[in-house]
Amino acid sequence: MKVTLITGASGGIGKAIAFEFAAKGHHLLLVARNKEKLSTICSELHVKFKIEAHYITADLCDKNSPQFIYEESKRRGLSINILVNNAGKGSSGEFYKNILDSELEIIQLNNASLVALSHYFVKDMIAKKSGYIINIASMIAFIPSPYMAVYAGSKHFLKTFTYSFAEECKPYNVKVMLFSPGLTTSNFMNTKENNNDWGKTLTANSNTQTPEEVANELMIAFGKEKVFHVSGSKNRFFVKMTGLMSQRFIAKTFGKQKRNQMGLK
Ligand SMILES: NC(=O)c1ccc[n+]([C@@H]2O[C@H](COP(=O)([O-])OP(=O)(O)OC[C@H]3O[C@@H](n4cnc5c(N)ncnc54)[C@H](OP(=O)(O)O)[C@@H]3O)[C@@H](O)[C@H]2O)c1
Repeated sequence: MKVTLITGASGGIGKAIAFEFAAKGHHLLLVARNKEKLSTICSELHVKFKIEAHYITADLCDKNSPQFIYEESKRRGLSINILVNNAGKGSSGEFYKNILDSELEIIQLNNASLVALSHYFVKDMIAKKSGYIINIASMIAFIPSPYMAVYAGSKHFLKTFTYSFAEECKPYNVKVMLFSPGLTTSNFMNTKENNNDWGKTLTANSNTQTPEEVANELMIAFGKEKVFHVSGSKNRFFVKMTGLMSQRFIAKTFGKQKRNQMGLK
């Protein structure tokens, strides 16, 4: 059975993506840590869309989880033809004050586990000469972002990795897309790493999309087999404009602006 695997599907953007794929008749394998939420979502998807919805609970901050997810999907006879690497977390504040273990977890979750999942599943896709991998980045992948240094770095890595990997996959008819949301109303800013004065102040009054709007744009980009898409017209304009400036200039400008906002000399 052909199945779409979505990580971070127990809430926010990942859950909205699950509903979009289910509405198109895809069978699903959802991954996150919260068993109760995953179980409820799978039941809802099955009843509403008459699809098979499976889940695996796993912590992708654990480096063994990608292999476990791959082997578990094989054991259950699920053939993954679309992989949506969505699970991610961020942090905000002064890097030197942030908890180091938590900063390193961002790199494990947003980068290392995503690379490992891609590595496991792409081999099967290449063998079948068919498949699609969607990596959920962020607008921040395009702009240096002082006071979100590790998160910004993780998404910059994801951009370069995805563009390079997408080219390598072309001869095998495996499509790879970098999909970049802007600020989205989810639980993202309520995690302990982001739920601080910096996160709240710096994102106040920002242009936001809902997870459903983001997921809907993702499906349109997926339908067009895009390699790259920034969600939201204002976000796309912003990314285009900042693309005309030097990264160093952007870092200096944002650094100064954020220090002013936070009253830091
Ligand atoms: N929200 C934004 O403003 C925004 C903007 C740009 C990009 N993004 C990106 O969009 C993606 C989804 O973010 P979101 O806004 O939907 O965030 P969210 O509401 O916090 O949801 C994150 C999802 O990832 C899962 N997750 C978190 N840590 C995990 C772990 N260690 N192992 C397995 N699953 C984990 C969570 O489920 P459990 O807690 O059940 O594990 C949840 O399902 C992320 O990659 C984020 O960087 C978000």
